[in-house]
Amino acid sequence: MIILGIETSCDETGVAIYDSKNKKLIANQIYSQAKLHSYYGGVVPELASRNHIKTILPMIKAALLEAKKKLNSIDAIAYTAGPGLAGSLLVGATISHSLAYSLNIPAVPVNHMEGHLLSPMLENNKPDFPFVALLVSGGHTQLIQAHDFGKYKILGESVDDAAGEAFDKVAKLLGIKYPGGSMLEKIARKGKINKFNFPRPMIHQKNMNFSFSGLKTFTANIIRENNFDKKIFFDIALGFENAIIDVLIKKCYLALKFTGYNKLIIAGGVSANLSLRNKLKKMVKKNQANLFFSRIEFCTDNGAMIAYAGMMRLKSKTFKNQLNIQIYPKWSLMDISEIF
Ligand code: KG4
Ligand code: ZN
Repeated sequence: MIILGIETSCDETGVAIYDSKNKKLIANQIYSQAKLHSYYGGVVPELASRNHIKTILPMIKAALLEAKKKLNSIDAIAYTAGPGLAGSLLVGATISHSLAYSLNIPAVPVNHMEGHLLSPMLENNKPDFPFVALLVSGGHTQLIQAHDFGKYKILGESVDDAAGEAFDKVAKLLGIKYPGGSMLEKIARKGKINKFNFPRPMIHQKNMNFSFSGLKTFTANIIRENNFDKKIFFDIALGFENAIIDVLIKKCYLALKFTGYNKLIIAGGVSANLSLRNKLKKMVKKNQANLFFSRIEFCTDNGAMIAYAGMMRLKSKTFKNQLNIQIYPKWSLMDISEIF
């Protein structure tokens, strides 16, 4: 089966084609709108949806060209139906349903977070169920007990800012343009350890929840107390990064102990962070468990994970093709089966 995957939930337009018979991704096109939004310091929803409209058709054409496939060789179209920005989701949902209707093939709604959760399965070293998943993106920080495909339980999540959001906000205070997570990581590499003792919110609590919003205020205070001295920015970046990683590691440890599982997967934009990956590797090794993640380009939003999740949904036989175009901007992983 040849599946076209379409991702338009936020500020990346992703189009990919997955060949399920050969278990191979045969096209992957990603267009990031980051430059467009960085001028405003964050995503402007109306600009995002308008930009998806402009880019989606040329990107579908580019993906077909890359895969050397004709449109009529596509067997199904998977698209992100939520969670995400309503206007942006509508672009992907509308084009997917229209194309699918004209080709007489199914249009499969995919939960964006389930796409992230399954993204390590696009790699050679793929995890199988059950596993614990740490989903760390710009909009979510969640620990998931993934019992089987579609059977997920949220063990804990952020009570305020998501990890990626905290990275972006602290990056902004350090003068880094949106989205600042990956640049902050590079700056942190030049910092000195233990120069600033950042708090580790909720690290000693036995639950698996997170809180990251206070780290922004803490950073703002340090910057002010040091008279906006740019020389300390490297140390601040490292101090902040270490604090957030320590909390993520501790809560992953608790989740492994709680479930008794020996597989941990990390996914979402922040899982591209090499320091997080390396420290998690050490923690899982110490606990006789294994860590799984995707290549860096599939950590942030992409169409490949949506095509893959759509293929899994079709295979699970839990899917009924519907003609109405529906989006679910607040669709939780806990309610995944409700729309099928
Ligand atoms: O998963 P994603 O592309 O979008 C959402 O679904 O939200 O995640 C984007 C987030 C941004 O906040 C970005 O700053 C963060 O992931 N990010 C990183 C790194 N690369 C991307 N955060 C920390 N370190 C990185 N290397
Ligand atoms: Zn995402």
